[in-house]
Amino acid sequence: MSSITERYYQKHPGSVKRYEEAKQLFAGGVTHDTRYTTPFPIYATHAKGPIKWDVDGNEYVDYVSGHGSLILGHSHPAIEEVVARQIGRGTHLGASTDEELRWARAIKDLMPSVEKIRFHSSGTEATLMAFRLARAYTGRDKIIKLEDHFHGWQDYAVATGGGVAGIPDGTLSSMIVLPPNDIPAVERALEGGDVAAVMLEPVGAHTGHMPLMVPQYLDDLRAVTRKHGALLIMDEVVTGFRLSRGGAQVRFGIEPDLSTMAKIVAGGLPGAAVGGKADIIDMIAFRDDPEWDAKRRIAHQGTFNANPLSASTGATALEMIAREPINERADAAAARLKAGFNEVFSKLEVAGHARGLASVVMVTFKDCGCDREVCTMGHSDIKEGSSPKFMGPLKRGMINNGVDPMGRGTFIVSAVHENEHIDRTVAAFEETLKAMREDGVV
Ligand SMILES: Cc1ncc(COP(=O)(O)O)c(C=O)c1O
Repeated sequence: MSSITERYYQKHPGSVKRYEEAKQLFAGGVTHDTRYTTPFPIYATHAKGPIKWDVDGNEYVDYVSGHGSLILGHSHPAIEEVVARQIGRGTHLGASTDEELRWARAIKDLMPSVEKIRFHSSGTEATLMAFRLARAYTGRDKIIKLEDHFHGWQDYAVATGGGVAGIPDGTLSSMIVLPPNDIPAVERALEGGDVAAVMLEPVGAHTGHMPLMVPQYLDDLRAVTRKHGALLIMDEVVTGFRLSRGGAQVRFGIEPDLSTMAKIVAGGLPGAAVGGKADIIDMIAFRDDPEWDAKRRIAHQGTFNANPLSASTGATALEMIAREPINERADAAAARLKAGFNEVFSKLEVAGHARGLASVVMVTFKDCGCDREVCTMGHSDIKEGSSPKFMGPLKRGMINNGVDPMGRGTFIVSAVHENEHIDRTVAAFEETLKAMREDGVV
């Protein structure tokens, strides 16, 4: 057993014990695929600000950040207050509320392309609705998505170009999966005239892990989709309110027809939205015309759509983002983290680099001459430099040293990661690289 794995076992007896039970209860022993970690995942007890703790009493600087949903950190006082107040007033009023109006206004203020909105409970539902809206609005069946781009686990979004277990071929054949950074390939597919929309993660697969050459690619994609009458759907589930206050679209000045949002949009509680041009979203609207309402309208139910708890935390978070330097603080902390990681790579003479946009930092165990924001390395090289051979020991090693990153070597930074937390993280990274060297990994 490697020294990193040995120490991982030693530090986490409580997690080992719980995982034994979990394997009997859950498929794969986990409740979300990304929590599947060999040899076992850690079990967390509570969190505050940028810190979380596990069942063995270990403390971590947290960069999973609620899978990207926590730009204000854990249990921000403003969010705690609004949750407590709303619980006292009811978590589901079975009626329209002021909170949902406030939430929609807050989104529209930050994301000007959004004219109208419908709320959902998860990003997966939002992307499913975006596809349905695009198909109904254009009268066309096909959707283009880009290789490796993640849009949740609904049947259309998981198309890879091949077969997928449990999904009928007929469903998959309505999806066209194309390579990233290849506008001619998109244009050729659009020439068929049967494409309703192109959907993408605006800075590349897995929040830019496989970067798109922004902003040029986005400009070109906007132009070709317009030319061929197809909609452009930006999946801003992670990038929304993080790449800039108004998401990737405001940062790069692109106006999509539809946007999907989740994570930050609901202030750390479950919640999501699809928003965009009014006439597209109005495919869901009642017209009090039996022909339209029964046959052509898109139905949209959902018990927890715009529930007042998520609506009030979402509105509170977004109003703070609009008013306060939340994004600036998170971006500055991420810049310090990125610089610290790159210094450690140089100091220890380990091949690799850290890069990323805004408050997202990614580590790859291969060097290149990129600007440390948008990596210009080939995607197969990025995959090689981020293979499980590196990322398993990195995750376990960082956990051993009191830091919890996401599995792909991604660190999602919040506005409450202070210099002290960043410097602790850089020191943990240095210790981890030394241990990886000792174990013969780098
Ligand atoms: C870009 C993107 N789209 C959609 C989703 C799905 O969102 P949810 O997990 O809320 O269903 C995710 C989740 O990580 C995502 O990263």
